Order: sequence, then C-alpha cells, then structure tokens
Amino acid sequence: GAPIAAIPTLNCVVLKSFVKIACNDRTVGQIGQPSLLNCVVKPTQDTTDIDIVNVKWKRSGDAESFLNCHQDEGCTGTWPGYRFADFSSEWDSKNTNISLLITNTQVKDEAKYTCYVYTDSGDDEVDVDLQVTAKYSLPNVSLVPEKKNPNSKEALLCKASGGYPKGTIRWFDENNETISAETEVKTMDNGLFELSSKLVSLNGSTFSNYTCIVFNSSGGKENEGFEGTPSPVVKTPNVVAGVLVIGSLIVGLLLLLLIRRRRAQRKSLLEFWL
Ligand SMILES: *[C@@H]1O[C@H](CO)[C@@H](O)[C@H](O)[C@H]1NC(C)=O
Ligand SMILES: *[C@@H]1O[C@H](CO)[C@@H](O)[C@H](O)[C@H]1NC(C)=O
Repeated sequence: GAPIAAIPTLNCVVLKSFVKIACNDRTVGQIGQPSLLNCVVKPTQDTTDIDIVNVKWKRSGDAESFLNCHQDEGCTGTWPGYRFADFSSEWDSKNTNISLLITNTQVKDEAKYTCYVYTDSGDDEVDVDLQVTAKYSLPNVSLVPEKKNPNSKEALLCKASGGYPKGTIRWFDENNETISAETEVKTMDNGLFELSSKLVSLNGSTFSNYTCIVFNSSGGKENEGFEGTPSPVVKTPNVVAGVLVIGSLIVGLLLLLLIRRRRAQRKSLLEFWL
C-alpha cells in the first residue's frame, strides 16, 4: 500500500536557559547612603562564555525600565542616581556583574526591583526587594503645658525624628518599670517619621525620674551604640529649679541682714565713744 504520510506534530518547544541571575534576595539600604542590589549572571551548565545582549532594571509597577543596556543600542538611564554598579556607559557585554547602584537612598526607593537579562545562552529575570532604614535622632524631652486633660497642668513631651520604618517611644520610671503612653507618628516631607509621646502628670503629682527610649520597628533599642550616654532623663525640672532660686534668695537675705547688723553695731559703738 501507499505509505502514510507522516503528519509532523508541532511540539511546544521550551527553550532551556543556560543562565541564571543570582542576587541577594533582600537588601537593606540606609537613607542617604548608597544601596547595592548585588546581582551577577551565572551559567547553569558548563558555558563559560556568556555574551549579554540586553540587560535592564525596572521598578515593580512601572511599565518601563529605568536602566537599559543593549548590545546594539548602548546604555540608557532615565533616572539620575540609579546606575549599573560595575560599569557606566562603557558597557562590556561580557561583564556579568549587572548590579544596580542607587547612589543616594531615599524612602521612595523602598520597592521591589526586577532585573531582566537576555544572553546568547538564554534569558532570566529576578526580583530583588530593597528595604530602607534610618536611625531616629536622640530623643528630646521637654516640659509642656497640658491643656486637653483638666486634671493636670503639664506633661513631659518626648520627640525623636528622622527615622524609618515606624518605631515606638516607651517611658520608664526610676525603677525601670514601663509607663504606658501612646506614641504619635507623623510623616515628615521626606517620608521619614517623627515620633512623639506625651506623659501627663496627674492631679498634683510631680514628675520624678523618667526616661524616654526610642525603639525601632523590630523592637531594638535605638542609639544603643552610645553606651554610657544616658537617654534624656527628666528630674522634676521646675521644682528643682524653684528650690534653687528660693534657696539662694534666703542665703542672700541672711547675708544682707548679717552685714547690716554688724554695721549697726559698729556705728552704735562709735557713737558711744564720741
Ligand atoms: C559588582 O560590582 C560592584 C561594584 O564594582 C561590587 O561592589 C560588587 O561586589 C560586584 N558584585 C559581584 C557579585 O561581584
Ligand atoms: C533595630 O535595632 C537593632 C538593635 O540596635 C538592630 O539590630 C536592627 O537592625 C534594627 N532594625 C531596624 C529595622 O532598624
């Protein structure tokens, strides 16, 4: 019989990639400092010679990449301050270090980034999360008038600013016991946070030693590096000052009286003899 023509079946061809991008899966950057999203293209087989055709970086949610190097078209960067860490416009397609460098990290840089690579040995893409942190300033404690609470006249206000992510302020008394007080969080213009917490003195009671300490988002004590530097402690500032003033006044008055009396005595002696 006649041979049956073989009908070619269309196979779905999966092109296996012989490269992969290896990155640190999480990077923590500090505000105002450079951040490196460290990525390198690696062969998965014995391929030693990888030739990159195109590499680009995109921020999650954006349609366009902000950094792009192409063998034929060269490199384009749309954002100042974001560049390849290991090369600038002079790109070498054999350079497998495709790390992204953010020169001056800001709060707005906290995002997921995707890196794409197209090579002669296959393609790959990878996501990298950038988290940013900033340390809060040393807390500042001041005595402020209290208006909201009718049972008290004044309150202690503790403030620390310029930190990220959100932290909390906690108060401790002289026995190191926690005193509950709420932390208010405000967002500053640059996206950093300002924390404040108010401790209200109740009916007639005065403030003794209170310490306010700032804790970061993971519950770590901030400014812990300053061993031996006590956090701001408030020692009944108004009362202590008052006692001092009255004390010096009394001493002054006593001295004055003493001098007057001596003079008066001398005077009367003189009068007696004359
Ligand atoms: C990539 O290059 C940057 C800048 O030269 C360097 O800091 C980083 O360590 C390099 N990464 C790898 C994986 O070699
Ligand atoms: C919080 O503080 C601790 C101790 O100082 C530190 O190890 C940790 O990295 C800090 N976490 C953040 C998110 O800043």
